[in-house]
Amino acid sequence: MKLWILFGPPGAGKGTQGDLLKERHQMCKLSTGDMLRRHIQTGTPLGKKIQAVVDAGHLVSDEILLELVREGIEEAGDREILLDGYPRNVAQAEALDTFFPAQVGAVFHLVVDEAALIERLSGRRLCPTCKRIYHVVTHPPKISGGCDDCPGSALVQREDDREDRIRVRLAIYERETAPVRDFYRKQGLCYDVQADGSVETVCSRLTDIWEKIQSVANTPRQTE
Ligand code: AP5
Repeated sequence: MKLWILFGPPGAGKGTQGDLLKERHQMCKLSTGDMLRRHIQTGTPLGKKIQAVVDAGHLVSDEILLELVREGIEEAGDREILLDGYPRNVAQAEALDTFFPAQVGAVFHLVVDEAALIERLSGRRLCPTCKRIYHVVTHPPKISGGCDDCPGSALVQREDDREDRIRVRLAIYERETAPVRDFYRKQGLCYDVQADGSVETVCSRLTDIWEKIQSVANTPRQTE
């Protein structure tokens, strides 16, 4: 089992790239945002407890997240796992190291400038049924307002994608989440990936790096 972390600010494209990589390389994707939103949507006790925090763009507690992520990783068994949205602060990165030592294969840091992030987030729409991600300008559905894969399902905007919440999330990212990059840089695991091209271009960049890391890991060491 290896953990591949998709890392970057809100709107960098973690979910979009995670869905593509999962499909093309038969990986398991664990998105903490999706897990939390599923609890909210289905009205579980956890969902009721965290709804206001998530809608406001604040972080949910480390304890809750660790439990969700541990469960998800353990359920995935031996499969390669893409983590989207975790870890989100240094305490979470340390917890991951403690419970799954030496399992992180790489951290892909998606780099996009702030103006583009705001444009991406304010135009994002989601299918509430299959969770497919769209954008009103760059990736619209075939029929306006509906999901291509789920007839009758009207696309929705996330509560935390309103402009005031986007600003809160970007500030929290800078303060709490960005230091995680240095945590992994010190371990030689962080790769910066320009994520401002088309979805396909970014996916090729990620795949190239991922394949290089795999080929180095699989090359037998020469004995002297
Ligand atoms: P989460 O769902 O993880 O939100 P996020 O990190 O803010 O990231 P986003 O989902 O907003 O963006 P993304 O990078 O996935 O971009 P996407 O691919 O959708 O978390 C939500 C909340 O849950 C948090 O605020 C917190 O409350 C809680 N939470 C989650 N994890 C937690 C944790 N570990 N600890 C504590 N709390 C936690 O793309 C965005 C848009 O851009 C889309 O419309 C897409 O079509 C478009 N797009 C994507 N790529 C491109 C491209 N290359 N060119 C043009 N448009 C593009």
